[in-house]
Parts: sequence; structure tokens; C-alpha cells
Amino acid sequence: MQFNTVVCGCGAMAKGWLRAIGEHKDLSKSIKIVGLVDINTEVAEALAEEFELGSAVIGTDLAAVLRETKAQLLFDIVVPPARIDVVRTGLDYGCHVLSEKPMASSLVAAKEMIGLAQKAGRVHAVVQNRRYIPGIRRLRAFVESGAIGELTGVHCDFFIGAHFGGFRDEMDNVLLLDMAIHTFDAARFVSGKVPQAVYCHETNPAGSWYRHGASAFAIFEMSDRVTFTYRGSWCAEGANTSWESQWRITGTKGTVLWDGKETFDAHRVASEEGFLRELEELTVPDSVNVYETEGHASVIGAFLKAIKTGEPPETAGEDNIRSLAMVFAAIESAKTGQRVPIERE
Ligand SMILES: NC(=O)c1ccc[n+]([C@@H]2O[C@H](COP(=O)([O-])OP(=O)(O)OC[C@H]3O[C@@H](n4cnc5c(N)ncnc54)[C@H](O)[C@@H]3O)[C@@H](O)[C@H]2O)c1
Repeated sequence: MQFNTVVCGCGAMAKGWLRAIGEHKDLSKSIKIVGLVDINTEVAEALAEEFELGSAVIGTDLAAVLRETKAQLLFDIVVPPARIDVVRTGLDYGCHVLSEKPMASSLVAAKEMIGLAQKAGRVHAVVQNRRYIPGIRRLRAFVESGAIGELTGVHCDFFIGAHFGGFRDEMDNVLLLDMAIHTFDAARFVSGKVPQAVYCHETNPAGSWYRHGASAFAIFEMSDRVTFTYRGSWCAEGANTSWESQWRITGTKGTVLWDGKETFDAHRVASEEGFLRELEELTVPDSVNVYETEGHASVIGAFLKAIKTGEPPETAGEDNIRSLAMVFAAIESAKTGQRVPIERE
């Protein structure tokens, strides 16, 4: 089956989506791009030309393009503040909607999206592409296997001097909303725990080229007494980490380190005695389901599968709101200087 699909928001990230679809036969067989919508028509026209989508309807009015193209799917790739209106329009028309992260600009908007999707009986899911990569899948399987005992802590460092220009330079809480959401979501996935409360210190350090919140340091209380800490900066020049963060995961019996790229380093205790216990090295198995390791392509594939099977996808709005709740609780904590409980819903 091929779905008539409209892309709304034809900027930088839309190219990533179209490339992922083009590179995967299964996806290009199932998805027919029939419409391109952007408030800036020139951007949509340029996208059509670059990806040879000459027959797609181009417009600025999403509802009109959905009607004209009889769309079944809506790919929402707009900037975060525009998302709620785009999702509302798509679900109102009867489309299944896949949205870029972050899910919404507020928890109120995210809850509205969940309600609308339920009412419409359509799938609404969020692109959390950074959990669909080999390293994250390997970490999760390793933690789940019990190789380092019971999970006690997840600690992530993210330091990148990233010069984007564009909307990020002007937004509030830029690191927490636009980037840390990836690591928070991945930590929730890897740990399998539920975030319960957070304390966060957010700053815009001297020399920052962002208007607000380029750096943040957060301590999350997760279920089962697991602690997740995050130290991050988007204006730290000199020693960039991976975009996936650098990870240290501790368990009752051992530790696994992941550099966010190819290298894992895992050890567990091998004796019951000694001031510092003897350790044995562990291998982190590299067997992963390749369909879960291809970033955007995997998220889009999971979205299509959910539509076909009726089973909610891993990043369905009703689950992904928990990652968003981590971000908003961290922002509130940074504002108030207080520990903030995290909403369960
Ligand atoms: N998952 C990832 O790894 C990843 C990476 C980069 C960006 N993103 C996300 O993708 C989204 C888009 O980011 P981008 O880098 O492509 O930004 P961008 O500014 O390059 O593109 C956004 C486009 O949306 C259009 N737009 C804005 N409001 C609109 C509206 N109401 N209707 C139609 N079009 C509208 C803009 O004109 C622009 O062309 C953001 O939510 C961002 O956080 C995700």
C-alpha cells in the first residue's frame, strides 16, 4: 500500500527525512510525497526541485493541500512553536501524523495532541531518531541482560560548540528543548525507568552565541532509586563529545562506558575481597536488529508499521510526552531553583 503523504515544513530537516525515505526501498514504496507546505513557498519549491518532486502540490495552506491531495499521512517538520496547529490540522483532516521532536512547545499542547489523536483514531508519533542507533540499542540490551547487576545510575555528558544560526540562536532554553530532549529520551529508553523528579541549573555562559540557555546541568530521580545526571553545553569549544553524549552507566556489579560512537568499555567485579575489587572485562554484544538502528528511517518505518498493525509505535505521543515532561520539569527547576516532581501523564 502506498500512502499519499504531505510534508509540512520544508527546511533543513525535511531534507534528512526525504533522503532517508529515498535510501530505503520499503519506505519509498510505501510513501508517495504528494504535497509540500511551507510558509515560505520558495523553500518548498527548492525542496521539490532538489528531490525531483515536480508533481507535488506546493502551498502555504496546510488544510487546503491535505484536501487537494487526499493525504493519508502528514510529516510535520516545522519549528516547535508551529507544531500544535500543524498536528491539529492534520488530525482534523484524518491523517496519521509523524512529528519532529520536540513533541510540543508545552505539556498542555502535547496533551491536546494526544487527545486529538485518540479522538481521531489516528497514530501520532514523534521522531526520536537518536534512540534508533546501534549504540543505544546495544546499551539497552546490555543493561537489560543484568551484566552489570541492577541499574543504579545513568550519567551523560554532552559538550559541543555548535554554530547553527537560525531559530536556535533566538529560542528560550535552547539546549534543553532542542537537544537535551534526545539524551533524556534515550536515557529513559536505555534505563527502562520512569522519571520522577529533577533539579536543574541552566545557564547561558559567557561567550555564548545563543540568546538563552545554551548550557544545563540536571539531576533526575528515576524509579527504583536510579539517578540520571546530564551535563550539557552547546557553546563549549575545544573538546566536542559525540552528538549522542558520552555515557557512564553503573550497576550494583559493574559499569559500562560508551563514548557515543564505536567504543564500549565494560567491567564487573570478579572477586568478593580487596579494597578495590578485582574486575573482569565484559563484551557488549553487537547483535542488534538493523531495522532499529537507522535513525529517521527506523522511526518512519516504525510509524508505518504501527498504522498497518494497529500497535502503538515506540515513540507514540502518549509515551513520548514523558520525555517532554523531563524537559519542562528541568526548565521549571532552573527557573525556580527548586527540585520539581515530574508529571506521570
Ligand atoms: N531529529 C533530529 O535529529 C533533528 C535535527 C534537526 C532539527 N530537528 C527538528 O526539526 C524541526 C525543524 O527544524 P529545521 O532544522 O528543519 O528548521 P528550519 O528552520 O530549517 O525549517 C523549518 C521550516 O518550517 C517552516 N515553517 C515554520 N512554521 C511553519 C508553519 N506554520 N507552516 C508551514 N511551515 C512552517 C519554515 O518556513 C522552515 O522552512 C525542529 O523541530 C527541530 O527541532 C530534528
